[in-house]
Amino acid sequence: MAFLRILFQVACVVVMLSNMAAAAVASLAKPNCQHRCGVVEIPYPFGTTKNCYLNDKYFINCSNSKPLLGNLIVNNINSIEGELEINASIAHHCFENSRTGVIGYENHPYLRVPNFTISHTKNKFVAIGCDTYAFLNAFQNDEPFSIGCTSTCQSLINVFDGSCLGLGCCEVQIPKGLKNFTLDARSYNNHTKVSDFSPCSFALVAKEDEFNFSSSYLKSLQDIDTYPMVLDWAIGNETCETARSKPDYVCGRNSACYDPQNGDGYRCKCNKGYKGNPYLHEGCQDINECLQAPKPCNATAKCINTEGSFNCTCPDDYEGDGKMNGTGCSPKASGSHAKIIIIALIAISIGLMVLFVGGSSLYCGLKRRKLFKLKEKFFQQNGGLLLQQKLSNDRTSMQAVKIFSIGELEKATNNYDESRVLGQGSYGTVYKGVLPDNKLVAIKKSKFCDQSQIEQFINEMIVLSQINHRNVVKLLGCCLETEVPLLVYEFITNGTLSKHIHDKVLSSSLSWEKRLKIATDIAGALAYMHFSTSMPIIHRDVKPANILLDDNYSAKVSDFGTSRLVPLDQTQLTTLVQGTLGYLDPEYFHSSQLTEKSDVYSFGVVVAELLTGKKAISFDGPEIDRNLAMYFSSAVKEDRLRQILVDDLVSDGNIYEINKVANLVKRCLSVKGEDRPTMKDVAMELDGLRSMEKHQLGKAYLGTEETDYCVTPPAVHYFNIGIDDGSCSSTSTSTAVGYEISMRTQVSKPLDDGR
Ligand SMILES: *[C@@H]1O[C@H](CO)[C@@H](O)[C@H](O)[C@H]1NC(C)=O
Ligand SMILES: *[C@@H]1O[C@H](CO)[C@@H](O)[C@H](O)[C@H]1NC(C)=O
Ligand SMILES: *[C@@H]1O[C@H](CO)[C@@H](O)[C@H](O)[C@H]1NC(C)=O
Ligand SMILES: *[C@@H]1O[C@H](CO)[C@@H](O)[C@H](O)[C@H]1NC(C)=O
Ligand SMILES: *[C@@H]1O[C@H](CO)[C@@H](O)[C@H](O)[C@H]1NC(C)=O
Ligand SMILES: *[C@@H]1O[C@H](CO)[C@@H](O)[C@H](O)[C@H]1NC(C)=O
Ligand SMILES: *[C@@H]1O[C@H](CO)[C@@H](O)[C@H](O)[C@H]1NC(C)=O
Ligand SMILES: *[C@@H]1O[C@H](CO)[C@@H](O)[C@H](O)[C@H]1NC(C)=O
Ligand SMILES: *[C@@H]1O[C@H](CO)[C@@H](O)[C@H](O)[C@H]1NC(C)=O
Ligand SMILES: *[C@@H]1O[C@H](CO)[C@@H](O)[C@H](O)[C@H]1NC(C)=O
Repeated sequence: MAFLRILFQVACVVVMLSNMAAAAVASLAKPNCQHRCGVVEIPYPFGTTKNCYLNDKYFINCSNSKPLLGNLIVNNINSIEGELEINASIAHHCFENSRTGVIGYENHPYLRVPNFTISHTKNKFVAIGCDTYAFLNAFQNDEPFSIGCTSTCQSLINVFDGSCLGLGCCEVQIPKGLKNFTLDARSYNNHTKVSDFSPCSFALVAKEDEFNFSSSYLKSLQDIDTYPMVLDWAIGNETCETARSKPDYVCGRNSACYDPQNGDGYRCKCNKGYKGNPYLHEGCQDINECLQAPKPCNATAKCINTEGSFNCTCPDDYEGDGKMNGTGCSPKASGSHAKIIIIALIAISIGLMVLFVGGSSLYCGLKRRKLFKLKEKFFQQNGGLLLQQKLSNDRTSMQAVKIFSIGELEKATNNYDESRVLGQGSYGTVYKGVLPDNKLVAIKKSKFCDQSQIEQFINEMIVLSQINHRNVVKLLGCCLETEVPLLVYEFITNGTLSKHIHDKVLSSSLSWEKRLKIATDIAGALAYMHFSTSMPIIHRDVKPANILLDDNYSAKVSDFGTSRLVPLDQTQLTTLVQGTLGYLDPEYFHSSQLTEKSDVYSFGVVVAELLTGKKAISFDGPEIDRNLAMYFSSAVKEDRLRQILVDDLVSDGNIYEINKVANLVKRCLSVKGEDRPTMKDVAMELDGLRSMEKHQLGKAYLGTEETDYCVTPPAVHYFNIGIDDGSCSSTSTSTAVGYEISMRTQVSKPLDDGR
């Protein structure tokens, strides 16, 4: 590294030295002549001493270290453009006392530069003042002429900096060929009315790109005598054509002669690729373009400096001029190669076409077959064979459940159109579908399918196919040809019970009678599932989000994804804990012993929710009130039921019934499963109340009623259960290892899958 750094430093020094050498070579003065006077560079043909200038015309008097051309101060000499910048006098016309008209100060400066021409492109004639007119007087072709302009203004309102359009300032272009002039500034009214802000008139010939009018000039130019202007210079008084053949022709090597636009004589300039002073014999030096920035050659190309130019050489296998602003370097594709490639391409494309025509028919056939294979694969994967086998064993369900094809369901949902989405959750999406016979269905499409759950899915199919109850959502069929099985349910029109309880508007139309009917319906459905099917079926996830209402407020229990058939010889089933926080039976949660009583507990929570309008778990209020089951039980026990009921629920006619239901709920919410009534008992009691209500036998009575067990559920209900929806079964399937008990801290919201 150190070595490299030294090498780099050496290289830098070399570059610096060569630059200095170049600067020395580039001196614009004649060799051994003073090339600078003060800060001004003096290029040949100008010079400060004899033999250093071309002739007297170009003599610069530098005796005071100030360059003087005659009596003019020189600011700059430009040998490339043939220009000379001098300071020329400003014409003043001021009134010391405008009231008396006594002239304070006036001058009429002139400029005589017979050996030079006043640049008509770089200068302009300017007059400044608010009561002003001014002239430039000169001769052209021995004839006098004047140019001038007028500037008047009453105040400074219309005078703007940078604007020289006749208000405070006016300007005129300079004619060509001007060699001497006089400036004359005047006023119309001796500045009487404007003396406060414009006491003078000024006239000047100013270097155009330097002069920028400022309103402050109206006063401040009084203190300034001169202003820069530009002269053009040339050699002799002949054109290039004549001069070139003359012995005193001055243009040096590698330079060319040109005739200026303004004035007599000729000028020299270096050829392209050279720089320096063209008026010196060896003045124009080759430019080493390779050392310039930006680099003239493409990075891949090698730069070779040549006299007056440079060569960029691309690497061997590249072509192009290598120039940065040319064609650069690009990889070679030589002519013969290109031909071969083109012929090859044609041959290949003909071949491809033949292949395509022949192959496309073959391909289409293969693809169709592949699709068919895929469908078949999914069908098997999704347990289609298992299902077919199971269904064929049970003729009744065979008729009930239909196996749909992909096409049928795509058509029914308009290719799963977004407008058809009924609900969406972590489990997947439910679509509204229309079957060819105009029957409305709900199609459930799960997000992904865990192959290990296939058996469970088939179980669900079997379970559902066995249930035929007016308060249970009917499974119409399924589709096993897709990667994730699709389930087709009967369409229930009025949405979930959850929506009806918690929506303010919907809830207000839920009368006591409707609520009691809903509770009775659910109880009936669960009692049926527990006791009237060939094998007891435990729902395991009873919650308002899984209960749908139709237009008559008939409740329909849905979502049997977590259902398990209970073999007759077993009263308890050890399974993975599944369910929803807030509705989950604490006993089941602790022991993983699943019984029908778990559904009884969940049912109790649902009815408590129906009575109070509160969520099973709420996240506000005192901790003791967050769990609805606990909250409800303690309210019943402490005889403050009335305070927690839905507003306007209680009337004289139903207090007795409400009280009965509340006590029933309390029993359902018992911590010990054995203390809970069976779903059959619950359904019978509710049925009794319903028929009693019909006979208007309700008594005004709301008070304590002795209950058998008043054990408040423990705080263990606060837990975080990993509900992991989205398996091919229709709802929650949490893994046993996936949940954890974390008292009070990690309470997760109950999931409402929103149908
Ligand atoms: C003009 O040039 C001539 C020589 O060509 C010289 O004698 C004369 O002094 C110059 N005039 C001025 C004003 O520099
Ligand atoms: C140069 O200018 C000075 C005054 O600044 C004058 O005294 C001197 O004579 C001039 N020299 C020539 C050669 O004109
Ligand atoms: C100005 O130059 C012209 C030639 O262009 C000449 O005729 C005239 O006499 C000069 N004026 C003065 C004052 O030198
Ligand atoms: C002239 O001055 C004005 C105001 O100071 C400024 O806006 C403008 O850019 C200037 N123009 C030039 C050419 O410098
Ligand atoms: C301007 O002043 C001159 C005297 O310097 C006088 O003759 C003339 O009348 C004045 N003009 C005006 C318009 O006041
Ligand atoms: C030339 O005039 C400009 C503007 O008035 C001034 O700033 C500069 O100092 C003058 N140059 C010389 C050498 O007097
Ligand atoms: C050119 O200048 C020379 C002397 O410098 C003079 O003799 C000649 O008359 C001039 N020619 C023209 C056309 O002005
Ligand atoms: C520069 O390149 C051109 C063509 O690319 C070639 O003719 C010429 O000889 C080259 N010159 C040098 C000095 O390499
Ligand atoms: C290429 O560069 C040269 C000098 O660097 C320039 O004169 C020329 O205009 C450029 N050409 C293009 C096409 O930019
Ligand atoms: C060099 O030339 C090639 C081809 O023209 C171009 O793709 C590449 O950008 C160039 N490299 C540079 C640094 O300009």
